[in-house]
Amino acid sequence: MCGIIAYAGHRPAAPVLMEGLRRLEYRGYDSAGIALAQMKNINCFKAPGKLAALEDKLSAAPMPPLAGSGIGHTRWATHGVPNETNAHPHLSNNRRFALVHNGIIENYRELKERLTGLGYAFYSDTDTEVLVNLIEEERKNAPDNLTAFCNALLQAEGAFALALLCLDEPEAIYAARQNAPLVVGLGQGENFIASDLTAFLAYTRTVIFLEEGEIARISPRDCALADLRTLAPKDYAAQHIEWDVQSAQKGGYKHFMLKEIFEQPAVLRGALAGRINPDAGTLRLPELEGLSRPVRLRIVACGTSYNAGLWAAPLLEQWGGIPCAVEIASEFRYRKPILGRDELVILISQSGETADTLAALKVAAGNPCPTLGLCNVMGSSLARGAELVIYTQAGPEISVASTKALCSQMALLTLLALHWGSEGGLVPPERLKGLLADFAGLADILEKSLPSIAMEVKPLAERAANARNIFFLGRGQNFALAQEGALKLKELSYVHAEAYAAGEMKHGPIALIAPDFLTIALAPPDGHEAKIFSNIQEVAARGGPIIMLGRPDKNARFGREVALWSIPSCPEGFTGFVLLPMLQLLSYEAASYLGKDVDQPRNLAKSVTVE
Ligand code: F6R
Repeated sequence: MCGIIAYAGHRPAAPVLMEGLRRLEYRGYDSAGIALAQMKNINCFKAPGKLAALEDKLSAAPMPPLAGSGIGHTRWATHGVPNETNAHPHLSNNRRFALVHNGIIENYRELKERLTGLGYAFYSDTDTEVLVNLIEEERKNAPDNLTAFCNALLQAEGAFALALLCLDEPEAIYAARQNAPLVVGLGQGENFIASDLTAFLAYTRTVIFLEEGEIARISPRDCALADLRTLAPKDYAAQHIEWDVQSAQKGGYKHFMLKEIFEQPAVLRGALAGRINPDAGTLRLPELEGLSRPVRLRIVACGTSYNAGLWAAPLLEQWGGIPCAVEIASEFRYRKPILGRDELVILISQSGETADTLAALKVAAGNPCPTLGLCNVMGSSLARGAELVIYTQAGPEISVASTKALCSQMALLTLLALHWGSEGGLVPPERLKGLLADFAGLADILEKSLPSIAMEVKPLAERAANARNIFFLGRGQNFALAQEGALKLKELSYVHAEAYAAGEMKHGPIALIAPDFLTIALAPPDGHEAKIFSNIQEVAARGGPIIMLGRPDKNARFGREVALWSIPSCPEGFTGFVLLPMLQLLSYEAASYLGKDVDQPRNLAKSVTVE
């Protein structure tokens, strides 16, 4: 939610900030702004709407070329409607401080009342404007900006990642984090701060992930960290990041989402590389070293990552031999779950910054159970907070709708199932060897099939786009994929879609079936097909049109209500990896057909760092 970027260096700041905001736009895109220290003033440029509106505004403004420091923000509204006044940065009343903020200051009303009593005026509805004026107020009695910044933050309750520009130190930027991500980039004669390292990846891959309660000061020449509470200086260890800038660009594809769907064969290869040796029939997950075999598993996640857990639970039970429950993080965090020492809690998150998942981690950590984070973003809060971490290594996922991250999560969860299955004797060596060989061959199958899937999907996507309501049906693991299909379709194309376990239809939902109600049924040859065929017949018998994802030879059994979309053949147990891009492309094409903003659907943001 919201992206922030700050720059201090030898280049003109405005283009660097704008480029950073372009890469952060996936985090929020209802308004944007930048503030620059220029000619003894802090100048703010803000515009509602997408970044293009801010670009237009900047191109019309006189811009001295040497403004070396500045801050920028792209917003996902929490306090106040998305308009220019509420857009960040926010200036303090004396215009000596400008602040950008990702997060929520929960006690902003009390702070605002106090400041209003002291004569401060407020122009926006935001909590951020309160905070920047509190900094101005604290500066009256503080020896320096750092102390004023910290003193103000110590009064703020809630979550924040902040970047502050001060008129009397125009080269420097102050930043702080508490329950929202922030990363510092170290360059040559220039330094950066951002919500996500993709914002400055074009300039440096040397980074420091700020810890909770840490404060940073960057200037073109240096970077210093301190503890927010004590102001004591802190040492840091910079890390080198492998992601390259190309992986955060569209690379010739029309949308990031399409590129990310087509990256899935590479994602699969990356997930398996160094972990499996299909010739030897061996599998290693060094990340699990020291962990004894869990007696129970509890998976906790949100959205698409939750669907990964739902998809994997049957595998973890059947192959891994370990009972597995899957929970939505926003529910789990408010229960008092009973978690024993022998239970492993697996938290899945692409971003590693989802507020509900992090709160669930805290709940789990209050119990004797070990925790394992499965996440994509290196150095993220989940990666640092969980006892054990497995990186899914899908590379930067820019499209707001998650695609390749799910593929990587499914791959890693499959490896976990095979690991525990082989360890517990449920998957004997010969079977393991066969399954690993099948798994290793999957990326090639996917690579070959994706172009034809992308062709075949178009007329089906038009049908979906023109439907008012859609059921996605599946059984077993395919029910999890049906959930994902419905989630993708509604978030991208705004067509109403719901997923049902196919066997549940007769308990109520089938009442909705009529000639204008489309059903998309997942019926791969996986042992459940006879049952789902019956469910498809039941829908067809009531005049409901159906798109069936299945195998061609079974089509003969259905009437004209059923349109078959043929699943490319792939080894038993791994069909999910082919069904997934079929469903992703269906929603991609439906949204494109309807002219929707595929990479940045309305009302959404990539990292949901608020509750
Ligand atoms: C849907 C989507 C979301 C995320 C959810 C969790 O396409 O992207 O449902 O999956 O917000 O995000 P992470 O995985 O970052 O915790």
